Amino acid sequence: MLQTVAVLDYGSQYTGLIVRRLRELRVHSRLYSGIVSAEELSREKPAALVLSGGPNSVYDKKSPQCDPGIFQLGLPVLGICYGAQLLAYHLGGKVAPSGIKEYGRAGVRKTHDSLILAGLPDKFDVWMSHGDLVVEPPPGASIILETDACPAAAFQLEEKRFYAVQFHPEVHHTPNGGELLENFLYNVVGLKGDWLMKSFAESSITSLREKIGKNGKVVMGISGGVDSTVAAALISQAIGDNLIGIFVDNGLLRKGEFERVMARYGKRFNIRGIRMGERFLAALRGVTNPEEKRKIIGRVFVDVFQEAANQVEDALFLGQGTLYPDVIESSGGYGSGGAAVIKSHHNVGGLPEKMGFKLVEPLRELFKDEVRELGVAIGIPEDELRRHPFPGPGLAVRIIGEVTPERVTTLQEVDSIVLEEIHAAGWYRKLWQAFAVLLPNASVGVMGDQRTYEAVAALRMVESADGMTADWAELPHDILRRISNRITNEVKGVNRVVYDISSKPPATIEWE
Ligand code: XMP
Repeated sequence: MLQTVAVLDYGSQYTGLIVRRLRELRVHSRLYSGIVSAEELSREKPAALVLSGGPNSVYDKKSPQCDPGIFQLGLPVLGICYGAQLLAYHLGGKVAPSGIKEYGRAGVRKTHDSLILAGLPDKFDVWMSHGDLVVEPPPGASIILETDACPAAAFQLEEKRFYAVQFHPEVHHTPNGGELLENFLYNVVGLKGDWLMKSFAESSITSLREKIGKNGKVVMGISGGVDSTVAAALISQAIGDNLIGIFVDNGLLRKGEFERVMARYGKRFNIRGIRMGERFLAALRGVTNPEEKRKIIGRVFVDVFQEAANQVEDALFLGQGTLYPDVIESSGGYGSGGAAVIKSHHNVGGLPEKMGFKLVEPLRELFKDEVRELGVAIGIPEDELRRHPFPGPGLAVRIIGEVTPERVTTLQEVDSIVLEEIHAAGWYRKLWQAFAVLLPNASVGVMGDQRTYEAVAALRMVESADGMTADWAELPHDILRRISNRITNEVKGVNRVVYDISSKPPATIEWE
């Protein structure tokens, strides 16, 4: 069993970061709603609790409160910002609005020795972001840090192993924050630091076996992308051929992708390939609206997947490559105000609940880069783990206007030249994505002595850390020239190539 720290979420924008920092310190951590009951927590047997920050005031009737019972579990607790105020408030201290809202960098001074301050200087900078503050720590507590504006910037109840900090040790702007967290985990809680990808893989395989059982069958949509690849590999290492991967060719894949995935994955696990291109393209006939295209593709995918899954006898479980950020986004936890829908993303994971399967989501706790690390740990080749993201609706959102079989073929040819040249030039790994878009209008050209009137392809090459923001890549001109020449020479029906020099925002990465 991995030792786990439970992080209770009160809506801070930094809660995910706390989880992340603890893992970087080799400790497994798991996120819980801030209102989780003490009873549920004690069943889960965490080694310690961390209470996150949050935008509320502890006295506000509508603010998320912790179950006071969590302080009776005998577990070490670290309260951060709002979490520190909760700790003070529930243990008999006083919290009040601070005269001045403290926001940004502040200098703290040590006022008392503490295990969580071991090795830290007497004065250091921290990141503050709060309206209320603890004006009176709970009875028996000692103040360990102060600032000019915040007399109890940190306090402790040493015997109970309760610690509270008004600032945010999890953000980079608190340079000593990592050490403080490390002190809490190792000096106070006495953890071993057993979170390594290899041990995570082993413990996931064991718990997948327990959950699915000896004869349980899992069906899973495979996309060829990193997440579903790693999730499927892990499940198959747990249950072997009782995992049935379903790979749907929607007719909108990259050139040769179906054959490639079937050949490569077929060696690794049980996979069924289903060619349904005609059905998708028939449903898309005459449709030009981007959102409508996405919805149609999503709908047909669900139907096709359901039909394929029905053919698997006794399948009880549905495998999905859901990641931690997806879980946080969709949990609607405190503070996650419904973000506006920019595009209705469709993924192979986007299957409705009504299908009646039990979910198996072995990557639920991981961030994207951790998925890659896990992939390496379970033996997936590096080049597969470095593949660029490819949207669920595939080339349909890169064909502006109507999606016809001819236009799909044209874009597949253009796209494969782009990828070939980007690989050959050694740029693939430097880019987040590199692809082509087929525009709806024709442009005039000249070929030999003939006037031509043919399609335009736009190249989109971006650098990005997470797809949320992106910059167009400053690709050397000779590579662009080679790509352009090859496209206009080799692909029938395209006489012009343009380069997209828009960043995200305001543009998005995909054109639709
Ligand atoms: P945008 O175009 O919103 O894309 O800047 C951000 C990232 O998401 C990918 N993307 C999708 N992925 N289903 C997916 O699985 C979709 O419908 C979809 N739309 C965009 C896009 O390729 C980029 O990496």
